[in-house]
Amino acid sequence: MIPLLDIRAQYAGIREELDAAVLETLASGAYVSGPRVEAFERGFAAYCGAREAIALNSGTSALHLALLALGIGPGDEVITTAMTFVATVAAIRYAGATPVLVDADPQSFNIDPALIERAITPRTRAIIPVHLHGRLAEMDAIMAVADRHGIPVIEDAAQAHGAELGGRRAGTFGAIGCFSFYPGKNLGACGEGGGVVTDHADAAAAMRQLRDWGQAGRYNHVLHGFNYRMDGIQGAILEVKLRHLPAWTEGRRRVARIYDRLLAGSGILTPAAPAGDEHVYHVYAIRSAMRDRLADGRRPRDADDGGGESQHGDEPGTQRGQDACDKFVVRVVWRDRHGRLEHADPDDTAWRRLGARPAADKNEGRREQCSEG
Ligand SMILES: Cc1ncc(COP(=O)(O)O)c(C=O)c1O
Repeated sequence: MIPLLDIRAQYAGIREELDAAVLETLASGAYVSGPRVEAFERGFAAYCGAREAIALNSGTSALHLALLALGIGPGDEVITTAMTFVATVAAIRYAGATPVLVDADPQSFNIDPALIERAITPRTRAIIPVHLHGRLAEMDAIMAVADRHGIPVIEDAAQAHGAELGGRRAGTFGAIGCFSFYPGKNLGACGEGGGVVTDHADAAAAMRQLRDWGQAGRYNHVLHGFNYRMDGIQGAILEVKLRHLPAWTEGRRRVARIYDRLLAGSGILTPAAPAGDEHVYHVYAIRSAMRDRLADGRRPRDADDGGGESQHGDEPGTQRGQDACDKFVVRVVWRDRHGRLEHADPDDTAWRRLGARPAADKNEGRREQCSEG
C-alpha cells in the first residue's frame, strides 16, 4: 500500500539535521517553550512577512486564541466556510460563539466572498476564510467586505504555509493568521504543533499570555488561560524544517504542473489558480462529474487517496443548509509526498478513468523526484 503521505521519507532526507536538533534540545533541558521555540517564532514570522509569530501546541489552539484575542465570545457570530476541516468550526464553539457557515466557490473550493456580505448580522464579530488545500481565499474581496463592515478577519492558513497573492503571504492579510504544524502539513512537526502570526502587538501579547495559563509573569495569572505552549523539541524540529520549506514548496508546484499536464483536456477541474496566486498544493484536489465511475477505481494501484478526509464543517450539530460543498462531486486527492510524485501513473486504471493523457515520456508521471525529496 502506498500511503497517502510518507512522512518517514521526509525524515530520511534531513535525518542528520533533525537528529542533531532534537538531541541538542534533549541535552538543554528546555522541553517546553525555550530558545529553540523562540528561534522558530522569529524565523516563521520572517518567512510569513509578519511582525510576530507565536508558537502553540496545535492549529486548533491557534484559531481558539485568535478568537479570544479579538474578544469574541458567547452571543457573537463568526462567519466561515462550509468547506473546511472541522477544527475551524470547533474553535468558534470553543470560544462560545456561533459559527455561521457560508458556501464555497465551486472552482476554488474556498469561501465565496459574494455570500459573506449576506451572512453579516449585527452580531457578526469575525470572518474566518480558510485557504483550503493551500490556495489562498479571495483575500482582496474578503478584506473589502470586512473593512466595509469593520469586522476583523482571522485567516485559517493551516493548509497554506507560504501561499502568496501579489507577493503577500498567507496569514498576513487579516488581523491574525493561524497555522497548523501537524505532521502531515506542508510544514509539519514530529507531533502536534500550531501557531499564529500577527502585526498587532496587543493581540500578540494577549495570545502569549493565553497560551501560558494567562500569566503576565510567573504565577501572575491575569487571564483565564490555557496550556497551549509548544514543546522545545517541536520548535527545534520546525526550525530545521522551515529552512527546507521553500524547496519543498517548489517540489509540490513542480509535481502539480505534471498533474496539470496529464489531466489537460480530460474535463477534470484541476486546481489552477489565477496569475499571482501562488498555490502551495497541500492537496491537489480535483473535481469531476464522474464520481460514481471513479469511486471504485479511484485508488491508483494500492494507493491511499485520502478521499476520506472529513470536510464541510461537519461538526456535530452544525447547521449546513449549503449547496456547493455538497455538489463537489469528487475530491480525489493525490497529495504529493514531499516532492515525490508517486501516484500520477497515466497507465493506471484510475488515471485512465480520469481521462489523463498518456505521458510522452513514460517516466514523466512516475516517481518524479525533487531535489529535496
Ligand atoms: C483547515 C484546517 N484548520 C484547522 C486545522 C487544525 O489544526 P490542528 O490539527 O493542528 O489542530 C486543520 C488541520 O488539521 C486544518 O486543515
